[in-house]
Amino acid sequence: MSAAEEIAALIRAIPDYPKPGIMFRDITTLLQDPRGLKLSVDGIAEAFKDDHIDLVAGIEARGFILGGAVAHELGKGFVAIRKKGKLPSVTLSQEYALEYGVDSVEVDVDACKPGQRVLVIDDLIATGGTAEASLGLVRRLGGVVVGAGFVVDLPELGGAQRLRDAGVNVQSLVT
Ligand code: PRP
Ligand code: HPA
Repeated sequence: MSAAEEIAALIRAIPDYPKPGIMFRDITTLLQDPRGLKLSVDGIAEAFKDDHIDLVAGIEARGFILGGAVAHELGKGFVAIRKKGKLPSVTLSQEYALEYGVDSVEVDVDACKPGQRVLVIDDLIATGGTAEASLGLVRRLGGVVVGAGFVVDLPELGGAQRLRDAGVNVQSLVT
């Protein structure tokens, strides 16, 4: 079995979560498996190992788990991109569209210095709204977005393609 097949086999599909008609890809089973966790973290780190990264940013919540481990593996620091209202200091905020309404992600204003090269990590990309807003925050801080790494891409929702069309190096381990 390839690494991608092993990872895919460890992801659980939950029908009708969080709403009827949605098939939720649940990575808790992948994270719980020592080989699954290692393949996931190593796979993302390997994809960006030659990209001269200064910082790894993880998107709340599951992007913290993977992004923290990738940062450790690459020997870099970690930046938390959080849902609104969670960071206690001075932040930048960026809205993104949900199916109904908007949400926002936030980052500390001093999370990166102008010109620092930042890799953004999350567990999954669907419509790409969360990732796009997160990349926007990094750029507003003056950071250079080196790429975006995910375990799962749901290609029918078009987010990864949209980011690639905008010039972002998007890497995912399974689709
Ligand atoms: C999920 C997932 C990504 C995002 C992907 O998080 O972990 O962050 O959705 O969707 P998108 O590409 O359409 O933006 P969720 O919003 O469920 O938040 P949580 O991690 O706080 O549970
Ligand atoms: N799993 C996790 N996060 C998600 C999903 C999913 O299937 N779809 C949109 N965000």
